[in-house]
Amino acid sequence: MSQLHNERVIWVTGAASGIGQAAVEEIVAEGGRVIASDLPGTDFSWVEDIEEVFVVTGDVSDPDHNEAAVKAAQDEFGRIDGAVLNAGMAGRVDLFDGPIDSFDRVMEVNVRAVVLGIRACSQVMRPGSAITVTASTSGMRGDPGMWVYNTSKAAVINLVRSASMDLASRGIRINAVCPGPTETGMTTGFEGESYEDMRRRIPLQRWGNANEIAAAHSFLLSSQASFITGAHLPVDGGMSANSGQFTPPAFSL
Ligand SMILES: NC(=O)c1ccc[n+]([C@@H]2O[C@H](COP(=O)([O-])OP(=O)(O)OC[C@H]3O[C@@H](n4cnc5c(N)ncnc54)[C@H](O)[C@@H]3O)[C@@H](O)[C@H]2O)c1
Repeated sequence: MSQLHNERVIWVTGAASGIGQAAVEEIVAEGGRVIASDLPGTDFSWVEDIEEVFVVTGDVSDPDHNEAAVKAAQDEFGRIDGAVLNAGMAGRVDLFDGPIDSFDRVMEVNVRAVVLGIRACSQVMRPGSAITVTASTSGMRGDPGMWVYNTSKAAVINLVRSASMDLASRGIRINAVCPGPTETGMTTGFEGESYEDMRRRIPLQRWGNANEIAAAHSFLLSSQASFITGAHLPVDGGMSANSGQFTPPAFSL
């Protein structure tokens, strides 16, 4: 049976949890091999029995870690054909007097690290390779109190557009996936009323799960998406289709 990632080698950042973990599982299920990277001390016990996965730990905002992950792909599996630059952090800072260093850190992890990831892997990728980045619907619009995170994710969407032009001549595609509210480690703080509030804003009337976001990464990485580059794909139950003027109709199936 043909598989989307037969024998391909794909690097996934932020791989210990949530969307990254789901991406690792999806790529392996589709025949691929994975360099899974995340911060030191994160829980990778679930990969112990999966021989197609090799773990590298470090901070994505450190250039050496990015180089080490790509080198691990070459050393362990002989090459690198794809990357899911997914690691990211949330961060709220008061616009008027919050610590500006917190803004810098979010930009470092959510934007600068993506540049470092692109640089590291595109040096050695062959034509036909592909990169995906986890942006967010938060990068497509504004939200109260969210200027830091939303600015970082908007930057990443335009980084992907611009980088697609420079990467095209090397035969490398790059696209962004924009999740809406998704149940992962990052969103455990949403419960009760805040969870329900968000749910009502989603036309499909439910939060997403990490597998649904991973499926979009998997598609965009694959040859099925061979003519797609520089795009950002909302995976958000229709949330970003709403102008925000009216709450979508409630229903239960
Ligand atoms: N969950 C959502 O609703 C949602 C919505 C839109 C976008 N996103 C984005 O999805 C991506 C994945 O997040 P998630 O929702 O799966 O959350 P998560 O917390 O489950 O996973 C994020 C992973 O990134 C890792 N990470 C954070 N900072 C890092 C660093 N400096 N170096 C290396 N690894 C680091 C964390 O250790 C963690 O394992 C993020 O970029 C996030 O901004 C999430």
